[in-house]
Amino acid sequence: MFVVRIGETEVRGYLNLCPHFSLPLNHGPDQFVHLGHIRCVQHFAIFRPDDGVCVSGACEGSRLDPVGIGRTAEGMMVIQA
Ligand code: FES
Repeated sequence: MFVVRIGETEVRGYLNLCPHFSLPLNHGPDQFVHLGHIRCVQHFAIFRPDDGVCVSGACEGSRLDPVGIGRTAEGMMVIQA
């Protein structure tokens, strides 16, 4: 999975699987966001960071699988089951 920052305080988590061919979105660490959008490096589909919807490319209209992210009282990020 990976986490993207939305503005200064919010984050979203997604499984690292492109809905086009179920391949990883990245080739290397921290290579998910390009020009403000999530981009799959396989065939360059583009996804909105805030909801994971594919807005351009081979799987337009589909979406990334979300992973719930929360914060503890101390401010640490945790995965919500
Ligand atoms: S596998 Fe992501 S666009 Fe094809």
